[in-house]
Amino acid sequence: MAGKIPPHFIDQLLSRVDIVDLIHSRLALKKAGKEFQACCPFHDEKTPSFTVSREKQFYHCFGCGAHGTAIGFLMEYDNIGFVEAVEELATLAHLEVPREGGEHEGPDVRPLYETLDRAAHYYQNQLRIHPEAQRAVNYLKGRGVSGKIAAEFRIGFAPPGFHNLIDHTNPEEFDRLLQTGMIAESEDGKRYDRFRDRIIFPIRNHRGLVIGFGGRLLGEGKAKYLNSPETPLFQKGKELYGLHEARKSLRQLDRLLVVEGYMDVVALAQYGIRYGVATLGTATTEAHLDRIFRTVSEVIFCFDGDRAGRVAGWKALETSLPSMRDGREIRFLFLPEGEDPDTYVRSRGAEDLEQRIAEATPLSTFFFDTLTREVDMSSLGGRAQLAERAQPLLRKLPTSIFKRMMYQRLSKSVGIELESTASHTAKPLKPVTRSQPALDTMPPVRRAIALLVSNPGFSRIADLPKGWEALAIPGITLLRELLELLHTQPNITSAGLLERWRHKEEGRHLGKLAAMMLPLPTENQETEFVDTLMLLTQQALQFEWDNLVAKAELGNLSEGEKQRLGELSRLKAERDSNETSMDSH
Ligand code: UTP
Ligand code: MN
Repeated sequence: MAGKIPPHFIDQLLSRVDIVDLIHSRLALKKAGKEFQACCPFHDEKTPSFTVSREKQFYHCFGCGAHGTAIGFLMEYDNIGFVEAVEELATLAHLEVPREGGEHEGPDVRPLYETLDRAAHYYQNQLRIHPEAQRAVNYLKGRGVSGKIAAEFRIGFAPPGFHNLIDHTNPEEFDRLLQTGMIAESEDGKRYDRFRDRIIFPIRNHRGLVIGFGGRLLGEGKAKYLNSPETPLFQKGKELYGLHEARKSLRQLDRLLVVEGYMDVVALAQYGIRYGVATLGTATTEAHLDRIFRTVSEVIFCFDGDRAGRVAGWKALETSLPSMRDGREIRFLFLPEGEDPDTYVRSRGAEDLEQRIAEATPLSTFFFDTLTREVDMSSLGGRAQLAERAQPLLRKLPTSIFKRMMYQRLSKSVGIELESTASHTAKPLKPVTRSQPALDTMPPVRRAIALLVSNPGFSRIADLPKGWEALAIPGITLLRELLELLHTQPNITSAGLLERWRHKEEGRHLGKLAAMMLPLPTENQETEFVDTLMLLTQQALQFEWDNLVAKAELGNLSEGEKQRLGELSRLKAERDSNETSMDSH
């Protein structure tokens, strides 16, 4: 973990990404006037009250009150932390997240990435130049891997022998080789290369950085594959092999095909199916699903057609249930027994496989087929059993239309009405209020803040009223800070302002105020803002006047104060005459 993310970077990031595109990649938005709408992903509803503003770069649900920026949306929707959300957006915007020096939360891991990248280069190079490389090249050729695909996946060769990588590496880096599991230490303290005489598959994270390796024997044998151990950079249960390559090769990545092995991904790519990713022999985890649905909204899990494959498929289904939100699609593809995607695509070609992918079984079908196969649907007891098995699983589904439909289908199969328990436990819906928030009943400071935060450009109005800053009432400091920030950073958007205050007490109020302004027409807001500042200024002057008058009655005004009182009297007189002249119109 590195230092703090500088606030100016958040501004830059929010100006680079578009919240409408971001949200649209996860749920279908429809244009409604200047805004975009959808059914709210954060509560159960049938008519859309979830609204996204391109201009203000934030979203607001008039039904449940959820609101926030692009960062906030990712945090809520993908269920991730602030830093992760920022990193995710940065990846989309092709930006590196800079870190401020100072307090580092733990060691800097960047040098470890460099070490692994050098190792990847070394292995790639050995595949070209090592005297024994021909065996490796022949092996790859034998499996149909072209030079182009090998280069894209950075496939390499770890030569036979215990000291190749070690001898190639600067001793200063030995420690990093140890930390990343590239070398191991024997009991008597001798160091040796972990990967020997193997085809090397670098594993890259979604940003393209090498985080570990897989190595395959050049023939058959025990421990056919060897993987990097768990290290600070590599946790097997979180990574998807091939995700970076898929993202890179497809302009628009719509779906992912999840397979088991390295060679499956490589063979699929060889045949032009560029959206294969591998879980590296482990079961699908929630972390995998998180990663998947942060990238696409459709996933197909591919398994062998044998019993083990079905079991693995069911496990993946169970793990997927909590991620099954509306707008997402999960399907299952079971290959004929004895085939994996690698063998299948080679023997029958890409078109055949793509056809199977297109016909893959939807989660709902796999769910009911599997459960009904296990019970006797012709008997009451069997149908009761179905309900008993299905309900605890369906409860894991997030509140959604899909969930309701699954309950409906279950009710139909069982023959009695079964209800989604979520409708009992979910927060009661607040009424949808689209009426104009009473701007004029808001205290003026709040009104000014609300207007400013949804129209940051107002900070550039020439001759904004001055003097209101002296008022000692809640909100004045925030209003002043907002204007000060906007003067130094005039291009900050509404979303940028909200992010600046994310970690502060007042941040929550700012968000609510900004959201309240969303449905209002903007024409008169500028005048409203200036008038409100004027009103506050008058309150400040009145307050000062009252104070000075009270002091004068006690007879202890200084020369300066006397002068000021004179000035204020003139101002008051001017204003009063203005008001009468206005009244007479
Ligand atoms: P498989 O045994 O299905 O191998 O393991 P494969 O992918 O078909 O391999 P090839 O076609 O013989 O080359 C699937 C995945 O499980 C992991 C690897 O990630 C492999 O790609 N695995 C398998 C290991 O980590 N270690 C092993 O010994 C075997
Ligand atoms: Mn295989």
